[in-house]
Amino acid sequence: MTLGRLVVGLPMTQAVAARAASEFDAVQPDRPMSMDQIAEAAAAHNAEAILLTAGMHVSAGFLDRLPADLKVIATASVGYDHIDVAAASKRGVVVTNTPDVVTDATADTTMLLLLGASRRAKEHVRNMEGGWKIRNGFDQGLGWEVTGKTLGIVGMGRIGRAVAQRARGFDMPIVYHNRRRLAPELEQGARYFDKLDDMLPHCQVLSLNLPGGQGVLMTAEKFALLPRGAVFVNSARGSLVDEGALIWALASGQLAAAGLDVFQKEPAYDTRLNDLPNTFLLPHIGSATEETRNAMGFRALDNIAAVLSGRPAPDALKA
Ligand code: DGY
Repeated sequence: MTLGRLVVGLPMTQAVAARAASEFDAVQPDRPMSMDQIAEAAAAHNAEAILLTAGMHVSAGFLDRLPADLKVIATASVGYDHIDVAAASKRGVVVTNTPDVVTDATADTTMLLLLGASRRAKEHVRNMEGGWKIRNGFDQGLGWEVTGKTLGIVGMGRIGRAVAQRARGFDMPIVYHNRRRLAPELEQGARYFDKLDDMLPHCQVLSLNLPGGQGVLMTAEKFALLPRGAVFVNSARGSLVDEGALIWALASGQLAAAGLDVFQKEPAYDTRLNDLPNTFLLPHIGSATEETRNAMGFRALDNIAAVLSGRPAPDALKA
């Protein structure tokens, strides 16, 4: 007796796949399925649950193709800008995400981007890959110190606060912009700005840590408000950034460097970003650790198990 019929849209970690197989009547692929393939598998299996992840687009049209028995779509990601939650709710389908468990890995990745961009890691790694042909002189290949620089954080939720906690270890004064001001025990001395435009001129480093799905935040005007030579870091969502404006800011020296884990288009990202020497780019690996991917998969299965057992999902999203 299993908890119900599940279609898993992509290969999960071994531990998560094993649990899915033992608790559910689960269809599990050996490579990521397209949305068409998921819809077909869900219909063929008369699925009650679907497990997928960020970048797998759940539109109203996709929902229309799913069996009437479908009760829950669980995304193994904290972000859910790829899911039309309102359309799912209208159909009576619960949508869940995986908050909390991605916080540390994503904050660690933010620090990796911050350090990689500031210390020109891409150029130095390329040099080593090429057999260390460039012998940097005393005044060459120089990056920019992170220690002591003022860090601006946009989005002071769990991940933003975890970034602030790490940055304090680098003696970075923290300023932040958020919909609401945090309580002093969460602020930990960080200075609040209720207007982003007022904060940007103070940010020697700027990190985006807010959810996607709310349009473009970083336009040419916003980049121009940063102090010249600032470092920009994005581990949140590429949709928050006008990449044309970012390229202008990097090429003109308005930004010294950028560290990016997320892009407007993934994986077909704008490779002009890579052509610039002053970028440090990663392929959306914010949560990609053994521990975190297991925790995300388990959390998604917990949510599915709850719904299929008639209990409220711990991480049900509101439209
Ligand atoms: C998330 O959790 O939203 C990440 O971007 C996916 O790994």
